[in-house]
Amino acid sequence: MKRVFSGVKPTGHLTLGNYLGALRQWAEVDQHRADSLFCVVDLHALTVDHDPARVRRLSRQAATLLLASGLDPDLCTVFVQSHVDEHARLSYLLECVATDGEMRRMIQYKEKAARERERGGSVRLSLLTYPVLMAADILAYGTHEVPVGDDQAQHVELARDLAGRFNQRYGHTFVVPKATLPAVAARVMNLQEPASKMGKSDDFGPGIVYLLDEPEVVRRKMMRAVTDSGREVVYDRAGRPGVANLLEILAACTGGDPAAMSAGYGSYGALKKDAAEAVVAVLEPLQARHRELCADPGYVERVLRDGAEKARGMARPVVDRAYRAIGLLPPLTEAAADAQSGITAEAVTASAAEAALNAAR
Ligand code: TYM
Repeated sequence: MKRVFSGVKPTGHLTLGNYLGALRQWAEVDQHRADSLFCVVDLHALTVDHDPARVRRLSRQAATLLLASGLDPDLCTVFVQSHVDEHARLSYLLECVATDGEMRRMIQYKEKAARERERGGSVRLSLLTYPVLMAADILAYGTHEVPVGDDQAQHVELARDLAGRFNQRYGHTFVVPKATLPAVAARVMNLQEPASKMGKSDDFGPGIVYLLDEPEVVRRKMMRAVTDSGREVVYDRAGRPGVANLLEILAACTGGDPAAMSAGYGSYGALKKDAAEAVVAVLEPLQARHRELCADPGYVERVLRDGAEKARGMARPVVDRAYRAIGLLPPLTEAAADAQSGITAEAVTASAAEAALNAAR
């Protein structure tokens, strides 16, 4: 059976982009056809300026939203990255295989680092090494497929390169993974800034639809979406990015094809209205389930605890194998260590008995 792994970073409230680009695919397709793991990748949230309490809050919220979007713990494994040490353990080994040039070429690093410097802030080293940790997330599970939105494709490509390089140098250890992108809405754009991706930590707030936005707020944001000059509704991503984005959102929510759907509209207003209602229809059941789950926090905690235990069991042997392959000495088992230092079971019992006798005196 195929192994699927993917994750979401708790750096902000989850958006329609996260849902259409990733979560929906996980819930509707991946968990039914593969041995799947879905992870709240909280360590990645520490790569930029962060408030510890907010990261904790957003991590819990992201986990709840994964379940609300339809992930079923009986079908897949849902967990929090920092609960499984193997991610960080493997990340260091992969840092010894990656090059700094390769890290500096990552588009997201270049963009985020430039933004950080513009604000006069400093760039955390972990922002540079972030894609290596992401590769570790993926490779620790022998993952075949990584369902992501378009913006993560370069990072998955890096994971492929690192797996291939490690295998070539140190012997076959990792499965070489590949990204799988949704056919429509692989890159949902900001409604106010259709040249930029709808990102959860963006500055263009009014152009972002959050999964927990009230229906009226969703309608308002959708109706105020920036469209392009011109009148006809045509699907042209380069020439008419605003309208193309609305068509993609509508198509993704209703299961249609954006180019074919454009023929049904004579005005931008009608398109916005239908797209808004389609989004509301997708979000309403998700929000209702989210409310139910919030009323039972113990359930979400149990899912995460069981998920982490299962994930640990899967990652441990893969990461141990990588430690051996790269040349690290295996730690001695307790029994072997005792045998080497001349301690026998009888000696342990005898010294315990002596200690008890001394304590009684
Ligand atoms: P993150 O948290 O930014 O996004 C989670 C998922 O949502 C997708 N996505 C989008 N898809 C379409 N349109 C958008 N506007 C949009 N915004 C986000 C992302 O492509 C992603 O699939 N580095 C990753 C998290 C990560 C990960 C991993 C993913 C860490 N380790 C291992 C897969 C495998 C990230 O920041 O995603």
